[in-house]
Amino acid sequence: MSTLLLISGSQRRESWNARLLDHLAFSLQWQCAVDLLEPRSMGLPLFDQDLEADADVLATLTALHQRFSQCSGIIVACPEYNGQATPLLKNTIDWVSRLAHIDARFGNPFFNKPVLLCSASTGWSGGALVIQNLRALFGYVGAMVMGSSIGIARAPDQWTADGFQFDGTTESQVEAALSTLLQWTEHFRKMSEAELLSA
Ligand SMILES: Cc1cc2nc3c(=O)[nH]c(=O)nc-3n(C[C@H](O)[C@H](O)[C@H](O)COP(=O)(O)O)c2cc1C
Repeated sequence: MSTLLLISGSQRRESWNARLLDHLAFSLQWQCAVDLLEPRSMGLPLFDQDLEADADVLATLTALHQRFSQCSGIIVACPEYNGQATPLLKNTIDWVSRLAHIDARFGNPFFNKPVLLCSASTGWSGGALVIQNLRALFGYVGAMVMGSSIGIARAPDQWTADGFQFDGTTESQVEAALSTLLQWTEHFRKMSEAELLSA
């Protein structure tokens, strides 16, 4: 069974993006395993190349890198901060992308990995700008970024006592995006298994 890594770009306690990931994790529960990355527990400092030699930082980074390596696909839900990804998410991706440069035993955990981009915002745009920004970031590090994405505008208006309740159109888009992600995930997982067998 595939494992999807779910990453929020917000560590705010009542984050709409973290809630969106919970909603997606619930929808996926019978279809794949989910590894929900808890932003508050990541423990990485603000990126500083001088810290690449710090044993404690490297231990934290190695554990995080392993979670990225072991997953078959990634779902990112990131707030839009002035049209950009949050420092938290950028910092995480920068650190994880560096390990292969620091230590040759590690590979690029993003390479050929399907990524579904999502954003929930309190405004009307549903994070349309940050999705473009994330597309460039994850494309740069070698991931296979899905064309379709999930943008939740005016998130508080769609929140109920039972969690997110989206209108029919939005829910259909969410289901279609998850279904495509699962198909891509299976496809790339089988491709990398076949490559390993033929090596
Ligand atoms: C520094 C900052 C910049 C923001 N910039 C944008 C923005 O460019 N576009 C937008 O739609 N919302 C923007 N917002 C509002 C966020 O959508 C809102 O705070 C959202 O709840 C953050 O996501 P979270 O609930 O997951 O923490 C901004 C919020 C902050 C704190």
